[in-house]
Amino acid sequence: MKELVFDHSYAVPFVRPGELELLEPQAAAAHRQLHDKTGAGSSFLGWLDLPERYDRAELARLKEAAQRIQDQCEALIVIGIGGSYLGARAAISALSHSFSDLLSRDARRAPRVFFAGHAISDKYLHDLIELVAEKDLALNVISKSGTTTEQAIAFRILRELMEKKYGAEGARERIYVTTDASKGALRKMVQSEGYTSFVIPDDVGGRYSVLTPVGLLPMAAAGIDVDALLEGAAAACSWFGRPELKDNGAYQYAALRSIFQRKGKNIEILVNYEPSLFYFSEWWKQLFGESEGKDQKGIFPASVNFTTDLHSMGQFMQDGARSIFATTVWVDRSPVEVVVPHDPKDEDGCEYLAGKSLSCINAKAFQGTVLAHTDGGVPNLVVNVPELNPFYFGALIYFFEKACAMSGYLQGVNPFDQPGVELYKRNMYALLGRPGFEEERKALEQRLK
Ligand code: PA5
Repeated sequence: MKELVFDHSYAVPFVRPGELELLEPQAAAAHRQLHDKTGAGSSFLGWLDLPERYDRAELARLKEAAQRIQDQCEALIVIGIGGSYLGARAAISALSHSFSDLLSRDARRAPRVFFAGHAISDKYLHDLIELVAEKDLALNVISKSGTTTEQAIAFRILRELMEKKYGAEGARERIYVTTDASKGALRKMVQSEGYTSFVIPDDVGGRYSVLTPVGLLPMAAAGIDVDALLEGAAAACSWFGRPELKDNGAYQYAALRSIFQRKGKNIEILVNYEPSLFYFSEWWKQLFGESEGKDQKGIFPASVNFTTDLHSMGQFMQDGARSIFATTVWVDRSPVEVVVPHDPKDEDGCEYLAGKSLSCINAKAFQGTVLAHTDGGVPNLVVNVPELNPFYFGALIYFFEKACAMSGYLQGVNPFDQPGVELYKRNMYALLGRPGFEEERKALEQRLK
């Protein structure tokens, strides 16, 4: 079976000979800290070998629940924010039909999946409710802390809808909760209401939780083969568990990021050439942004969708401020082929492309862009994915999780906490008048005058 390959050959002009190897001792030390669980945030390393030791009985229970959701509803609403929704959204959009929401139920063989609780918007929730109110529904509410405001508000509103529609008992059978084993408001509600629930392990933080029920339940309900996805992640545990920098693509990626940053490249742009990877980039941005952006350090993670954005951001990448490097997630093989037809009139001047598939043209766009950006002073790294299927998607998730942990350690930060996220929450609670925040409220209102 082909491995997921990290290719840094295009970046050679930006790395002195021997420069990568200089980081071997630091990478080896960080590897030991990760695997011996002696580094910063070591109580959040449960994701490291989770795909290899996944509880099979729990997985069977999860697949049963997913089957029940498929039988129960036309629309599943997944309620969560940050790490509690981005992974599932990324997987479902990468691995489903591009227009799955518009396909018939028979063609889809799974409910439509909608997301809520990832924003605070009257319009979004109003429109979603309007769209699904007459459909058969199920909810999967996801929160590790069980106390996140965005998620809690959306759940309160949608639970009321469910109870009006199905009665308290009927709603209970259609609400699935994924949360901490013992703490938080959601766990209390599971205990009082008797909802079906799944546990987010204590030692797995939000943005590393896609391979727990957080991601796996919505994916399975959407018809994704979660066994294959976990197999791919487990294969990646072994490919990217190799201790030596020279043998480990995830570590090389982390080390090169650190080299580029030292050379003033403070922005990394994740590039895809496949529209269905849009949400994968959103997941990746959260993973790296929240893991590394602290202590006044970090590489700003951004993303573009090519070739679409070559007609917008391409100009900046080629020619703007030279503070960026790019990492392309390249998919080698398309599951389907569309070929440019012959047209002897050739009024559009495209006859030279006749007979070629779009993947073949996309590949040339990729190569041409990488070479142009290299000439423009932008280092390019590539992660080669043999094909976009559940197996390699699982492997891709694990590749970046492992690389992110290594990268955080190389940068000297704890990649598993997020102290900066708390401040906005405190201010928002105070301004909304949450009990216990009276003094903060006065001080903030003074500043807003
Ligand atoms: O990575 C993280 O920890 C965060 O992005 C969380 O996933 C996000 O804040 C949601 O938190 P919770 O799952 O507790 O609702």
